[in-house]
Amino acid sequence: MQATRLAAKRSTAPRAHAPLTEACDAPASARNPKLDRFAWWQSGIVYQIYPRSFKDSNGDGIGDLDGICQRLDYLVSLGVDAIWVSPMYPSPMADFGYDVSDYTDIDARFGDLAAFDRLLAAAHRRGLRVILDFVPNHTSDQHPWFLESRSSRDNPKRDWYVWRDPAAKGAVPNNWISEFGGSAWEYDDTTGQYYYHAFLKQQPDLNWRNPDVRTAMLGVMRFWLDRGVDGFRVDAIHHLIEDEELRDNPPNPDWRPGQSPARSQTRIYNLDREEVHHSIAAMRAVADSYPGQRVLIGEASLPIKQLMAYYGSDVPGFHLPFNFHLIKTPWDPDAIARLIEEYESHLSPEHWPNWVLGNHDRSRVASRVGAKQARVAAMLLLTLRGTPTIYQGEEIGMADVPIPADRVQDPWERNVPGLGLGRDPERTPMQWDASVNAGFTDGVPWLPFAADHRRENVETQAADPRSIHTLYRELIALRRRELALSVGAHVSVGTVGPVLTYRRYHPDRWITVALNFSEQAQEIALRPTEARRILLSTHLDRASESLSGTLRLRANEGVAMSSDP
Ligand code: GLC
Ligand code: CA
Repeated sequence: MQATRLAAKRSTAPRAHAPLTEACDAPASARNPKLDRFAWWQSGIVYQIYPRSFKDSNGDGIGDLDGICQRLDYLVSLGVDAIWVSPMYPSPMADFGYDVSDYTDIDARFGDLAAFDRLLAAAHRRGLRVILDFVPNHTSDQHPWFLESRSSRDNPKRDWYVWRDPAAKGAVPNNWISEFGGSAWEYDDTTGQYYYHAFLKQQPDLNWRNPDVRTAMLGVMRFWLDRGVDGFRVDAIHHLIEDEELRDNPPNPDWRPGQSPARSQTRIYNLDREEVHHSIAAMRAVADSYPGQRVLIGEASLPIKQLMAYYGSDVPGFHLPFNFHLIKTPWDPDAIARLIEEYESHLSPEHWPNWVLGNHDRSRVASRVGAKQARVAAMLLLTLRGTPTIYQGEEIGMADVPIPADRVQDPWERNVPGLGLGRDPERTPMQWDASVNAGFTDGVPWLPFAADHRRENVETQAADPRSIHTLYRELIALRRRELALSVGAHVSVGTVGPVLTYRRYHPDRWITVALNFSEQAQEIALRPTEARRILLSTHLDRASESLSGTLRLRANEGVAMSSDP
């Protein structure tokens, strides 16, 4: 986008504290003018920061906003376009910030509003966008709204949450189960009713059927948009609204003991209700009322068909409903080919795709597929059609870190221990260098580091031309350079034995990607006109190699090839 256009639009911005600066656009030299008809969140790459674990600046063992500021240049050098920061609002931390007790401030552990404004300005100066985590489904039980709501049945905020009378003999109102295990209903002595919580009992669900709740929460979005943020990742959106009659969910015949208890039901009455789309449309209208392409990314872990509704229908919904299917699909080339085909076939022309390999809720990709295939996965993520989101640490191949029982932090693991549902392993601190505390903190880190952190860290890997970190940088640079990768068409996907192949196209340039999912070398035939030269191998040692019809792939190797000789 040109500075002039931005400036013209900016003058209409309501009450801007820290408006987008021209510098928020990538410097002209970096952004190809051919990308002008695409929004930044279409051509760009998002990087997720889990602030507790990114970088600690004051020695309390917990990452913070000043810490993020110290690492912005790192993110610029990595080549990403935007950061999404998991919640940093005041919170009792029952769910590590996803239990918000004040939506319009910063938790003292992370800094304050001044630190936030500094971070935002520093990011924008570097051409980095900032996406916040918006948690509309529930507040903390310490939020003043809930304290009021629970104080009496006739409190004006009573209806801001979902309260119900006990069923016969004092029983819970229905059979719904919380995501974190146990009944989703908590009895409150003060008023003799139950309140609903899709997650922890410290996270009571807001009642989005109440227009005042809606107004208040849309006001929260405006508070941050006025400050200049570039959009929101919207938390747990498919939980927003529940069946008004509170009907019992039927059992899920596919559930097996050992799996998450909440999934023992087919959650037709408390998940993915049709009415949620009205609320999303209202959020979108707020985002769209601001200049500068503010983005909304929805978090809803749903099958592809259901997910599509989150793009909106008559009125727009999310720009990007997160697509988590690479996390859920078995790491098998045929399964991945089917997934890509299915996802692509459900997208309408106006829907922009997106892909992720992991986040703060899921076992890390390097643990799921192994260190060697993690490199193949990186090439997949960064060459598919659709906005990629990288979770901090993926770019140095971080794996899940086993957490000793006495150091478990995650409430999910504490509630239903031993099922492997705990999320601490994927939330351990970022490994910056080979020093004692990995350059993350001068204090005691809130979670332990991986045993190999002295070897596997940003500093060591940046100096190694064959590291996964170097691979990430090369892949990102390639994606930025090649319109076929950032905004080109997805042409076809298929497999040849254990090799997954697909092609991307942007006028006059084909890029073919071939990914070997196996431990054995493979040889495949290619159309000579479409794959003439290797652009990048995941082994980082074949750039510019010419091809003539046959491609030899080593074990666990992926390559991207161009149609130009
Ligand atoms: C989302 C978040 C997760 C959190 C939950 C409740 O799934 O990603 O970390 O626990 O919502 O807010
Ligand atoms: Ca700190």
